[in-house]
Amino acid sequence: MSDTEKLTTRLERYAAALTARDQRHVLRFWEGLDEPQQAALLSDIESIPWEIVDPLIASHVLRAPERTMPERIEPAPLFPAIPSKERGPEYDRARGVGRALLSDGKVAAFTVAGGQGTRLGVDGPKGCVPVTPVGGITLFELFAQMVLAARKKYASDIAWYIMTSPDNHAETVAFFETHDFFGLARGDVMFFSQGTLPAFDRTGKLLLSEKHRLALAPDGHGGSLKALVNSGALADMQRRGVEVISYFQVDNPLVRPFDALFLGLHAVAKSEMSTKITPKASDLERVGNLCLADGKVSMIEYLELPEALAHAKNDDGTRRFDAANLAVHLMDVAMVERIVGTSFELPFRRAEKAVAFVDERGETVTPDAPNAVKLEAFVFDALPLAQHAMLLEVDRREEFSPVKNASGADSLETSHRDQTARACRWLETAGVDVPRNNDGTPDVNVCITPSFALDAEDVANKIKDIPALAPGSVHLLR
Ligand code: UTP
Repeated sequence: MSDTEKLTTRLERYAAALTARDQRHVLRFWEGLDEPQQAALLSDIESIPWEIVDPLIASHVLRAPERTMPERIEPAPLFPAIPSKERGPEYDRARGVGRALLSDGKVAAFTVAGGQGTRLGVDGPKGCVPVTPVGGITLFELFAQMVLAARKKYASDIAWYIMTSPDNHAETVAFFETHDFFGLARGDVMFFSQGTLPAFDRTGKLLLSEKHRLALAPDGHGGSLKALVNSGALADMQRRGVEVISYFQVDNPLVRPFDALFLGLHAVAKSEMSTKITPKASDLERVGNLCLADGKVSMIEYLELPEALAHAKNDDGTRRFDAANLAVHLMDVAMVERIVGTSFELPFRRAEKAVAFVDERGETVTPDAPNAVKLEAFVFDALPLAQHAMLLEVDRREEFSPVKNASGADSLETSHRDQTARACRWLETAGVDVPRNNDGTPDVNVCITPSFALDAEDVANKIKDIPALAPGSVHLLR
């Protein structure tokens, strides 16, 4: 069969499915496309999982889905950041268990890097953005250093899995190639792409991003569970003897993926999925709330938490619902295998977004207000499916300063500030004098790379390698 015949056969197969769904408009420019373009359009159409999409158009695109709110919302039990005196030994024991998990090779790092990073607005994958206050080290290199340092510290073959999306996969892999995998062995880093779903206009019609391309978007970080299975990454983990997946997002340079306490408490509490939380900055902070919903640990988005509950206080005046999601999770390999099975999907949520599209005249329209509906699954929706879920409170300043926006909150500027502040705290804990301004902010610019220290304890062990910090000086400790 010639290439043209093959294309015609494929076209016939998919044209019927499109006609039946009143979506034939995506073939509107077919006659004017060259063969590679026709092939690209057909591949996009072939990628649509109609069995998932058909019901979602009715339930999530044509209208906002009905959310059934839990009958009972209660604060979830959690391990506090600082244990009481009585619980101190429990935390020490857990640290030992966590260290053993790391040295026995039972933990793998997992970065979700398939997002589009529209708010930051940089070209290319977010992981390639230089992010440190000194030295311009990229997010991917920082995480690579964390993996290398943990491999050394725990004398263990820790592997790293990175989820991309079709749009940034090739560029992500090329970035690692160019940098010789930052010193990691190629066999210890596995990339795989997540799935995509089409974007729709509000009448449920597929959008074209070009005359020969559908507007497709990654299916959310919740797509990671299915992608772990479909890509063979989960099987690879099983082959290596990995039992716990340390999940983190690509945009948080303060993340601590090899936290022995978190890992140990996860194991001791027999949790299948665990989450780090932090006290909220205000009652109505725009963060997800970890709660008990009808008895199950669940994430309730800030818009969905009834305002009375958001403002509720305990007898001692503290906030009753005070567990903000930091998007740092541990997931058992066995849980992912169990809940994904062969076809299970986490629930999809509807997001209204501004999506550029080609109109019926073939012209590109770039709207500045939401015109389209995207469907995304969220990884925290796996929490209520865990047989047991555990929450650990951490100090936000120590573990979370994501780079989401081009300016303002959660930007490079705030992240630089927070990275420097943490480095200075670690140095002071180790007994180093840090010059400070009158308002208490550090009067030095200092970056502690993961190769130098993974935590404050490592800094204390390197004290002889730390120079005196003169006011106004700049240091890259690596
Ligand atoms: P965000 O929700 O911050 O989205 O993702 P984003 O795509 O990075 O940025 P915006 O909203 O377009 O500005 C949180 C984490 O989840 C990953 C992102 O790469 C980031 O690490 N993610 C998000 C995926 O891996 N896949 C997705 O489909 C969505």
